[in-house]
Formats: sequence, C-alpha cells, structure tokens
Amino acid sequence: MITASAPGMIVLFGEHAVVYGEMAIATAINKRVNVTATELDTRNIVVESKNMGRTFEGPLYGETTEPVIRAVQAALEKTGKRRGIGISIDSNIPVGVGMGSSASVSVATAAAVLKLLQDDFDPIDVCTIAYEAEKVVHGNPSGVVNTIATFGGTITFKQGTLEGIDSKVLSLVVGNTGIPRNTTAMVEKVKEHIEDPRMAHSLFNIGAISWKAKEALANKNIEEIGQLMDKNHAFLRDLGVSSPELETLVKAAKKTGAYGAKLTGAGGGGIMIALTDTAQEVITALKEKGATAFKIKTNQPGVKIEG
Ligand code: MEV
Repeated sequence: MITASAPGMIVLFGEHAVVYGEMAIATAINKRVNVTATELDTRNIVVESKNMGRTFEGPLYGETTEPVIRAVQAALEKTGKRRGIGISIDSNIPVGVGMGSSASVSVATAAAVLKLLQDDFDPIDVCTIAYEAEKVVHGNPSGVVNTIATFGGTITFKQGTLEGIDSKVLSLVVGNTGIPRNTTAMVEKVKEHIEDPRMAHSLFNIGAISWKAKEALANKNIEEIGQLMDKNHAFLRDLGVSSPELETLVKAAKKTGAYGAKLTGAGGGGIMIALTDTAQEVITALKEKGATAFKIKTNQPGVKIEG
C-alpha cells in the first residue's frame, strides 16, 4: 500500500491564452489530495472517493470517462504490469472550482501506482500520465494544471515547457461564486470566436502580461503583481469568460484595497483570487456578497510519497 499526495493549484496569470501557446504562470497551493494505491486480486480498478462518498469501478484498459481510471490505466501501461488496483482518495481541494482538483488526483494516483508497482517514479512520467487523464476532462488541455500539480512551487508554462520562478509565498484570498464552472464549455467558448481579431488581441495581451508578471514575481514586487492581475482580469472579461458573480467579487475585493484581483481557471463561475495584506477584510467583503472565502498560500511542494 502506497500513499502519495499532490497539491491543488491556482493559475496566477495566462489562463485560456496558454491553450493557444502563450505563457501562463501557476502556483501550487496549501491544499492537497492524498491518494492510496493497493494491489487487488480482481482484474479491475476500484476507486473510493472519501469526500464525495462515491465508489466506482473501471477496466484495466479501454474506454473510460473517469480521469482517475485513465490515470491508473496509463500508469499500468507505463509499468507493463496488469494488476487490479484499488485507489482511495482523500482530498481537501475544493472540487470543480478551478483549483485543479482532478489533475491533482491524477498526479497523486500516478505517483502512488508507479511507486507501488516499480518502487520508484520519474516525475516526468507522473506529469505525462496526468496529462493523459486530463484529456478525459477536457479535449484540449494546455498541460499547465498537471504540470504544476506534479512539480509544485511557482512556474511559468509555455507550450509544454516549464521554468521555476523564485517567488515568495503570496497570501491570496479565494472567493468562490458557488457556481460550478465547466472548463470544456469555457475553452470551447473561446475557440468559437477565435477568428475574431479582438480575441486574438486579448490572448496576445494576456501572454504579454504573463511575461511582465514573471519578472514582478521574481522581484517580489507585490504592487506590480496586483496591477498585472487587474489587467489580466480585464482581458479575460473581454474574452467572455467572466460572469456577473465573478465581476461582483472582483470589484468587492478591489474596494477593500486589494493589490489586485482576477478570476482564475476557466471562469464562467468557480473562483476568483485577490492579492492582499488585509485578508480578513477581503474575506468579510466577499462573504457579504454571498461567496465562500478563505485564505491560501502559494509556492507549495509538488507530488510526494507520504508512506
Ligand atoms: C484551466 O484551469 C486553465 C485553462 O487555461 C485550460 C487549460 O490550460 O487547459 C482554461
């Protein structure tokens, strides 16, 4: 029996534009998933999700709509072994909001299964397996989410290549609209209008903001990071991936004097983030607007074996 853990994540800059080859910046957060893998005598994969109160099964190979089943299948392919595998998931990453919970589960699953069957793992294999699993979630993932959940810290990601940023731990407040976001639908929405020159303009500008943000993060220039978050949010709004609820929360955070605020992830619902020294004030302001709100820390470790 092996347990591996992986962090949730936040896209700080560059969501959507990263799907079109622009640079994004993502950071691992202090919310994690633990995945325990065991060998079974059966010839299938059995998954128990403690948080969702759900147990389901899948085949050792072949079609599946469950990313975690795909992650186990791809890990088995990598080891060349065909064993029944039991997976138990215990997570404190909010699900379906834009914190990468499904990619984190896939990353921890891949690491646990590889370690169980071949006693070691290469993080690059873990990242590749989790990317395969992400494809089950939405057809055209950029790869940023599985990459940050694997390697942790704060990274730039562009066309499959990552670079670490020596950033300090940022104190961010997350505001959750409570409205489920649908990554596939939002990625499709951008794609539908991709021929519109205004879309190309917004995507290009989001990429340019990421380059400036890389420098601001490395220089630990909090004011500039905040300003760039605001600019990034404005271009995401132009792309059509914000929502009235996200706009309300972003405005409320800014009114308290936050350095910057933006939606994060696919948008359309889900969460926003605010960079602030006065987290409690921002949390109160977001809660007054009906959101759930809490503090997170950035720059946390990537996948690891817990035992
Ligand atoms: C989702 O967290 C980030 C998106 O850019 C999609 C992706 O990168 O695959 C919207």
